[in-house]
Amino acid sequence: MINELLEIEDNVLGEIAKACSIDDLEKIKINSIGRKGALTEILKKLSALPVEERKKIGEKANKLRSEIESGIVDRLKELKSRLTQDRLSSEKIDISGRLAFPFARGHSHPLTETLKDIIITFKGLGFDSASGPELETDWYNFEALNIPRDHPARDSQDTFYIAGSDKLLRTHTSPGQIHVMEKQKPPLKVIIPGRVYRNEATDATHSATFHQVEGLAVDEGITFGDLKGTLTLFLQRMFGSSLKVRFRPSHFQFTEPSAEVDVQCFICKGGGCRVCKSTGWLEMMGCGMVHPNVFKSVNYDFEKYTGFAFGMGVERLTMLKIGLDDMRLLYENNLQFINQF
Ligand code: PHE
Repeated sequence: MINELLEIEDNVLGEIAKACSIDDLEKIKINSIGRKGALTEILKKLSALPVEERKKIGEKANKLRSEIESGIVDRLKELKSRLTQDRLSSEKIDISGRLAFPFARGHSHPLTETLKDIIITFKGLGFDSASGPELETDWYNFEALNIPRDHPARDSQDTFYIAGSDKLLRTHTSPGQIHVMEKQKPPLKVIIPGRVYRNEATDATHSATFHQVEGLAVDEGITFGDLKGTLTLFLQRMFGSSLKVRFRPSHFQFTEPSAEVDVQCFICKGGGCRVCKSTGWLEMMGCGMVHPNVFKSVNYDFEKYTGFAFGMGVERLTMLKIGLDDMRLLYENNLQFINQF
């Protein structure tokens, strides 16, 4: 019987070492320690043996049984990990040469870029930056700016009214002046960038939604000379010192005197074209000295303080900056166009 055990030991342990699959191992297990396996048969016969021999062979047989069991478990682990390794190496994909993203990095829209330039340039001239709401009341958008309900100046700034309320989409960033002055006492120098709306037909230089940057400076002794100097310096810092600028007398209800700031048309260089409507000049902003009635609206002492204000079109400045002859291109989300900048 001892010999039989030694034979089983040799055979079975050898087979386990050579087994190449989980099926092989299963068969070995059945044939050795399964219900009718070779080792099980020996264990069954033990009871018929004399005590001494039973003890000796029993011990040996049980030891062999646990050796077979643990041998199978170990080999199973080995096979499994080899299968995983094989699979990993056969299914490996080398992604080291691929781009992390299949699309290019984005960048700011030209309008955002212009806005950043405007803010930085005015910061250099000592201006803070503030903001106001797009949904305004009649008071902030018109009344406080010296535009009474029956005044014809309202005609040029028709907007979108919210039915059943006195709310409207602001037609300019000028109501921002009122918000700032309500919160702050002079002296102050601030710009107020934002989106504005007008009930207006779209063309190469107009849009029903556009952007402005308002400016306001209030202190004792501010003059029209300060206004002219500040805006000329701003435009030349943005576009170079050779830029031709003119101040043309104009009218705004909230400034007196008022002016329009034009720059020479960059398309036709003054000769006249579609973009400048044959005038040779492009209108960039409105400006003037703050009207005393505006100071009255915010309880500022109009005997003591003077100030200047201006409002510029961000789209117009962008067109000048990138040499664009049609504003509509800025809103079409055409990447072929946008990616040039
Ligand atoms: N709010 C005026 C406009 O939209 C521009 C402006 C601002 C004019 C400040 C004078 C002073 O046309």
